Amino acid sequence: MARVFFQTDNVTHEVEDGTPLIDFCDEVGVSLSFGCTEGTCGVCEVTVVEGRENVSRITEEEKDYLLPEDLEGGMRLGCQVKIRKGNVTLNWKKVKTK
Ligand code: FES
Repeated sequence: MARVFFQTDNVTHEVEDGTPLIDFCDEVGVSLSFGCTEGTCGVCEVTVVEGRENVSRITEEEKDYLLPEDLEGGMRLGCQVKIRKGNVTLNWKKVKTK
């Protein structure tokens, strides 16, 4: 099992190793949003604060969309990320809603 700490919402959730992030965000009820789900809109930008080694490799879509310095800083497109193992801490900017 892997453990994901959603820092922005102060929520922790355990998932099977290899689970795509997008598969359980709704269920957990965190505020991370998704749009296209294909790595082209950027709505799901998220920073892997801890446990970068515990998430899936950076995809070609992420290399196309994100700046190299953002990738270097741990930013990912949430729709492209799978949780591989261990502990992962994620942080993102909350989208303001009315
Ligand atoms: S949902 Fe569009 S890039 Fe992830």
